[in-house]
Formats: sequence, C-alpha cells, structure tokens
Amino acid sequence: MHYVCTHCGKRTPTDTLTPHCECGGLFELDFEPPKWDESRIHKDTWNLFRYRDFLAVDDAVWPSVTMGEGMTPIIEYDESVYFKMDYAMPTLSFKDRGAATLVSHMKAIGVQKCVQDSSGNAGNSVAAYCARAGIECEIFVPEGTSPKKIDMIRAHGATATVVPGNRDHCADVCRAKVRDEGVYYANHVYNPYFYEGMKTYVYETLEQLGRIPRHIVVPVGNGTLFIGVVKALEHLQASGVITEFPTIIALQSQLCDPLYQAVLQKAPEPARITPEPTLAEGIAIGVPMRGRELLDMTYRHDIRFVTAPEDQILKVRADIARRGIYCEHTTAANYAAYLEYVRLYGPTPDALVTMCGAGIKSDH
Ligand SMILES: Cc1ncc(COP(=O)(O)O)c(C=O)c1O
Ligand SMILES: [Zn+2]
Repeated sequence: MHYVCTHCGKRTPTDTLTPHCECGGLFELDFEPPKWDESRIHKDTWNLFRYRDFLAVDDAVWPSVTMGEGMTPIIEYDESVYFKMDYAMPTLSFKDRGAATLVSHMKAIGVQKCVQDSSGNAGNSVAAYCARAGIECEIFVPEGTSPKKIDMIRAHGATATVVPGNRDHCADVCRAKVRDEGVYYANHVYNPYFYEGMKTYVYETLEQLGRIPRHIVVPVGNGTLFIGVVKALEHLQASGVITEFPTIIALQSQLCDPLYQAVLQKAPEPARITPEPTLAEGIAIGVPMRGRELLDMTYRHDIRFVTAPEDQILKVRADIARRGIYCEHTTAANYAAYLEYVRLYGPTPDALVTMCGAGIKSDH
C-alpha cells in the first residue's frame, strides 16, 4: 500500500514513520475500494471492521485492536430528524471510528510510541486504542479542554500535556515535537488511515436505513467526519448505489468559522480568522490543515455551510437532554446549526444529525 502526496503526487510506502511527504504535502491513500456490494459486508463481525472489504486495513491486526466501535443506533428524533448515536462508542465519541483503523495500522507497522494533538476527543480515542495495542502515547490538549476528557486520557496511561493558548497553537507545539524528535504522529488530520474508519459512518447508515437520507449534517473543525462522509458517498455513487448526492450541511462555530467564511467568498483556501473562545471546543479549529481539500469537496458537491449560534448551544443541549439524550456541548452545536439552517432556508426533512460526543465529557 502507498500514500500519494496531495501536493506533488510522490508515492511513499504506508509503513513510513514520517507524517507527510518530503515536500511538506499531506498524504492520501492510494486505495480504490471495490464496488460496493452488500454481500461483502462481514455480518458476523460486530464492529466497524464488518466493512473491511471496503477499507484499507490490515486483516491480521484489527481483531486485536477493535473494541466494538461503530454499529451505533439511528433513532428518529422527530418527523424530520434522525440522530445517529455516535457517542455510543468505547470512549464516548465518534473519533473511535478513526482511532480503530489508525491504531490498527500503527500496530501493523510496528509503531511503539506516538504523539497526537486534540481538542480532547480524538486524543481520548487514540490514547484508549494505543493502550489496547500496547503503544506508548502523549496527547497534547489546549488549555481549557474539558477536564473529564483529560482524566480519560490519563486513565489510559497516556501522558496528557496541557498547552497554554488555543487549539491551533497546541497543534504547533505537538508538530514541533514530531519534527524535532521524529516521534510518530498519530494524528487524525494528517494520517489517512483515520479517514478509513470515518467512512463507516455512511456505510452503516446505508445498512441500517437501507438508503441514504436526503440531508446529512456534519460538524467541521478539521473535517475528519466530513472527509470520511464525502469519500464514502463518492464510493457509493461510483458503485451506482446512489444516483443523487445527498445535501451535506456542514457546520462550524459562529466564533470560529474559517471554512464558512471561505465559502461565502467562494475562496479556494480557508479564510484567515481569529478564533474566539466557544463552547464548541471540538470544532474550534482556526487553521484546518486540509482546508483546501475540504473546500474542493464543498464546491464539487455543492455542500452547504452554516454556523451554530453560540447562544443556542446550552439551550439546545438542555432541550435534547429533556428528551433523553445527553450530548456534549460541541455536539449540541450540531443540532443548533441544523435548527439555524431550517430558520434560514425552510423545512429540511429527512436529515441525519450526528450525536458524536457524550454529555458527561463536557460537564464541568
Ligand atoms: C464532539 C466533536 N464534534 C466535532 C468535532 C470535529 O471533528 P473534526 O475536527 O474532525 O472536524 C470534534 C473534534 O474533536 C468533536 O470532538
Ligand atoms: Zn509531496
């Protein structure tokens, strides 16, 4: 298996320990999944590796890494909205999808030590899966990260290093360590194996509903779910399973919206913004590293962007909780943004919204 550089096109074997191409460009996988065919789902595998025929994964390793991630329920929230309950995962967030495939790859190529930066959830997932795989890890989180996320990271035996400043600075500090010490970068944005797991969000939805909903609401910080969803839908479209691409409604925080601003201006690069503190810590990314890629996909598929009104996040979270569903602040922003979209553009039926983080994670 090879990576291809998104900048210069150079191929690099995927057992490399470097985080990006020599030229600095980010990698993508040179992997074309076979045509979608439901009979190729391994229905006796009760985790996301049931879709392994369509994922770049190493068959020998994933069984010792999986913790039963994926296979999350879809529930009808009201007549227009389905929630996909993606906090029903081993570490209580959707990032377990990507961590399961990334850490399986790391184990397959013999990584023994890694670092990662995160707003909390991705680091939490990587810490847990590394613990399972016997890989040492250090997670960098920005100051102000929900303490419960930090506690969970430490409980898995990882070092949690809290970096003063915002989320983007935290990433810079971690990347400096990767550069200076050559340690493996188990990062959800850089490493294409993470996206393999995120694709299963769509495959599962298709298997569960027997179709793809008309609207798919996706939060975008660095865009790992966004990229996974687009790649999987492109795969289904190329396989003739769907003829029409659903409308993807991508959301950002009102206080940190570089992609939303870029789309307003039809710009090819994320806008330069100054992130302001938001309750939606998980999407507080001022400089999304794959910004150009995300915008290419946006224009290719006419993806809509909307922002989550900051003053609605706590209210929406409380309203959802009163109906039995306790999600974290960033996740409440998903539904707040959906409601904002309805307010702006009218009824938006048959919408799938991700409940991607559990409420207890952001209680403090
Ligand atoms: C709860 C939650 N929602 C959304 C996101 C955004 O994910 P991404 O940065 O991959 O777009 C995160 C990222 O950590 C998160 O924790
Ligand atoms: Zn390159």
